[in-house]
Amino acid sequence: MTRPFDALRSQERRLLTDDPQWFRTAVFYEAMVRSFADASDDGIGDLRGMIDKLDYLGWLGVDCLWLLPFYPSPLRDGGYDVSDYRAIAPQYGAMPEFTELVQAAHERGIRVIIDLVMNHTSDQHPWFQSSRANPSGPYGDFYVWSDDNTRYGDARIIFTDTETSNWTFDTVRRQYFWHRFFSHQPDLNFENPAVQETMLDVARFWLRHGVDGFRLDAAPYLFEDDGTDCENRPRTHAFMRRMRQLVDAEFPSALMLAEANQWPDDVAKYFGTEAEPECHMCFHFPVMPRIFFALREQRAAKLVEILEDTPNIPAGAQWATFLRNHDELTLEMVSTEERAAMYGWYAADARMRANVGIRRRLAPLLDNSRAEIELAHALLLSLPGSPCLYYGDEIGMGDNIWLPDRDSVRTPMQWTPDRNAGFSAAEPGKLYLPVIQSLVHHYTHANVEAQIAQPTSLLHWIRGMLAVRRQHPAFGVGEYVRSRRAASPSSPSCAERRRRPCSASRTWRPPRVRPPSPSTPSPGARWSTSSAGRRSRPSDRTAGSP
Ligand code: NOJ
Repeated sequence: MTRPFDALRSQERRLLTDDPQWFRTAVFYEAMVRSFADASDDGIGDLRGMIDKLDYLGWLGVDCLWLLPFYPSPLRDGGYDVSDYRAIAPQYGAMPEFTELVQAAHERGIRVIIDLVMNHTSDQHPWFQSSRANPSGPYGDFYVWSDDNTRYGDARIIFTDTETSNWTFDTVRRQYFWHRFFSHQPDLNFENPAVQETMLDVARFWLRHGVDGFRLDAAPYLFEDDGTDCENRPRTHAFMRRMRQLVDAEFPSALMLAEANQWPDDVAKYFGTEAEPECHMCFHFPVMPRIFFALREQRAAKLVEILEDTPNIPAGAQWATFLRNHDELTLEMVSTEERAAMYGWYAADARMRANVGIRRRLAPLLDNSRAEIELAHALLLSLPGSPCLYYGDEIGMGDNIWLPDRDSVRTPMQWTPDRNAGFSAAEPGKLYLPVIQSLVHHYTHANVEAQIAQPTSLLHWIRGMLAVRRQHPAFGVGEYVRSRRAASPSSPSCAERRRRPCSASRTWRPPRVRPPSPSTPSPGARWSTSSAGRRSRPSDRTAGSP
């Protein structure tokens, strides 16, 4: 297989800082082991493949790699259905490759965080198998069992496309088990102290293997209480505080990043307080759809509003922001009217929808408009918080809405115009998912090699933007101050603001990685008004043909 990135190895490597608050100025990069690069040529990405691509990530300039679950799993939920918390799924490699990956990333100044799925396991996990077969055995109380499937009736159903209840009857134990997600993903019973201890031990296990922290999957759902929506229970917060104490005492610079798809006031509680901290970071879910809303409405108002509604967070804590991730673009945190508008703008075809959201990638969502992709990234990189990129979005990768569920956005990374996009040398039919071959986003033009070769490509532009951000720590640690001009509802540049202490950012300009071509739109490109009075796009280029 050709390796066009060898030249990148000679680039100067960055070093890991010893700043315990490294995450506040970090740019995160989310990737799945199975989707990134296949070194064993079996059609599935693996740890060796990922190690081979670390130089690319170093060159791009990301600071932290977030790995999605790589544990043994029946893979009915992309690996979030874990069947062994302390092992690597054999198709990805084994523990020696994992520790090598972490070490090699560190040598390049890149930290590694991993998904910790605490709320639920796969129904194939030996704990569940034991729990259903032997109620009085050691795992009998590891899950939430009941004879009554009307309990916790106020809890919403999350996977509305597939589930009709949060309870499923188990024919072996002859009781119902509780699950917030798929019916093959029973929730662990955090009321059981043994469950709590076991999860803390799992966290220790991976921290001892060198990881720099966790993205805490499904954080709000650990505990249930009758008469509530079973989210954000006080005991859930108490457990987070306990975990933070462990982390601070034993692995002081490790990160806890909460996934809580909730309103800012509720999410902010997952930071805890300065005296009693919980997570260092939380994803800011409501900001994300408002970036897309603002683009189409051509008004910054909703984005400005949600930033105003975002409470102050404890010193040293940080938001995580993102445009897209491995899930559907969730529309849970917008109003019914906004949701309807967004479905209309972004998901005209019913196959583009999933649960309460849209299962498309960034470039297709924005009609492959280079100007809009740049604008969206410029916002992401300048809003309060640390940005998280989703693999492939840096080259404007497409999606495949004909694949089931969220596989539409989880196809192989596109490295070259060669067979299987350079992802794997396997027989094409053997790939875990087909590479993107759509007319607009075909891998023969949307790939890393082609974009490295073209100085004005999206990839070079994004790399330049990350370099600018790196030069100004104020983007991560500065204070967000709303400026007067941002108050104007027609201004798309709602992120305009002052950052203290970095005055340079007040006169911030997009980076010039190479002399831009005359048609290069700036990230803050203004919308012009046509003679018919309707707003139209500025002169545009597509992301795929830069
Ligand atoms: C959140 C993850 O992001 C999603 O992919 C998964 O399906 C659910 N948690 C359940 O684990």
